[in-house]
Amino acid sequence: MSDKIIVNRLAGSIGAEIIGADVKNEHHWPIIRKAFIDFSVISIREQNITPDDHLTFAKRWGEINVNRFFNSLESYPNIAIVLKEADQTAAIGEDWHTDHSYDTKPAMCSILHAIDLPPYGGDTCFSSQYAAYDALSNKMKKMLDGQYAWHSSRHAFGETAKSDAQHKTGNFKNANKATQDALHPVVITHPLSGKKALYVNPDFTTHLEGFKPSESKAILSFLYSHCQNADFQCRIKWKKGDVTMWDNRATWHKAINDYQGYRRYMHRITVEGCTVNP
Ligand code: SIN
Repeated sequence: MSDKIIVNRLAGSIGAEIIGADVKNEHHWPIIRKAFIDFSVISIREQNITPDDHLTFAKRWGEINVNRFFNSLESYPNIAIVLKEADQTAAIGEDWHTDHSYDTKPAMCSILHAIDLPPYGGDTCFSSQYAAYDALSNKMKKMLDGQYAWHSSRHAFGETAKSDAQHKTGNFKNANKATQDALHPVVITHPLSGKKALYVNPDFTTHLEGFKPSESKAILSFLYSHCQNADFQCRIKWKKGDVTMWDNRATWHKAINDYQGYRRYMHRITVEGCTVNP
């Protein structure tokens, strides 16, 4: 293969950008796949792709998970729209979270394509949940290993969330489908890498199984503050056309909402995962 593909590591714990690759080229797939497993977040720069190309690339990873709460692209029910109009103030995904942790088989990855960007800002930050787990003391690891936590979509996308700023933008639908909760291990063994990762997040985890509410709150609050340590993070600065994908079972992410008065428009495809085990 004569194409020169460069994989640039972005930070010590997580993230790489890939330059010179084309998501449409099947010969580039092994390099992209390896970088994804090694770095958990990859930004494949300057892609010239249609929604069909985006879908074909996503299908290489697995079956598509149709997001039931996000608006979708016309004629493409499996491509979710991540949009903030210039006159809107709330941004989708502006708090730390892991996509689809409320599903019983949580999503493997999300693949975001930048269509229209603000003149500055609108980056996405990621945090490695491998690094977060590794940095805990052995005593804390021992306490958390074998514990389970509940995750839910109800408070984020359900009827009770309808008064939230985000819902008022009209970006979400199907509040009546936010009925499911899921129980997952607090520490999972990643299905691809075999490494251990923390698997709780501030948006969708509601409580720890078997703990008193005050205990669950205190432990989760410690973990959330621990996981936000800058040492575990990388930050993706977008350019139009970039395709960034992240491993939902090894990372948290957060859309930085610092571009008031400008439009940001992305297409997102989420790929099905599997049951997550301790
Ligand atoms: C998301 O949370 O899926 C969106 C991330 C972003 O818009 O940067």
